[in-house]
Amino acid sequence: MKRLAVFVSGGGSNFKSILDQTKSGILKDLAEIVLVISSSTNAFALQRAQAENIKALCLKDENEILKALEDFGVDLIALAGYLSLIGGKIVRAYEGKILNIHPALLPKFGGKGMFGHHVHEAVIEAGEERSGATVHFVDEHYDSGKIVLQKGIDIRGISSAGELAKKVLEIEHEIYPQAIKAVIEGEAK
Ligand code: GRF
Repeated sequence: MKRLAVFVSGGGSNFKSILDQTKSGILKDLAEIVLVISSSTNAFALQRAQAENIKALCLKDENEILKALEDFGVDLIALAGYLSLIGGKIVRAYEGKILNIHPALLPKFGGKGMFGHHVHEAVIEAGEERSGATVHFVDEHYDSGKIVLQKGIDIRGISSAGELAKKVLEIEHEIYPQAIKAVIEGEAK
């Protein structure tokens, strides 16, 4: 059973979809979420974690984060709406064991500042016919690690960033647990 840490900054819908899959879905008996780390004290995800009796900490200091990961015996980290860059010490300590979900089809529409509605606005502005979500390994840069899983849809009927965000978030909830399963089962390295 792999011990997962989920890093959050916001609503925590990806945290919830991963948690649901560990309880009764494709991650059952494969993974359990043992720790949630938030970069902000008012992330709703913190309340969601506490409601599920999962240890939730609001930490910013890299050494404190690393200590918490070690104290909880974390095997795999899933960044889920986490807005801070992961420091080099953590990237090196968890090489090949940190995943992130990005709300676009990387390598397009990624990089510093490309998060949340900024991504969807840029995709629509560019007149893209497709968009979707990408799960990738994390290195010391924003959104540049090896891609684990990606799913795209035709978005020609979508004209607002808000509508696109909703469609993409549904894809995120679908592919993140699948990507975590693939990494745990060694299908993705
Ligand atoms: C979403 O915009 C998602 O695309 C990105 O982080 C944001 C918040 O997700 N991964 P969540 O609801 O906090 O999981």
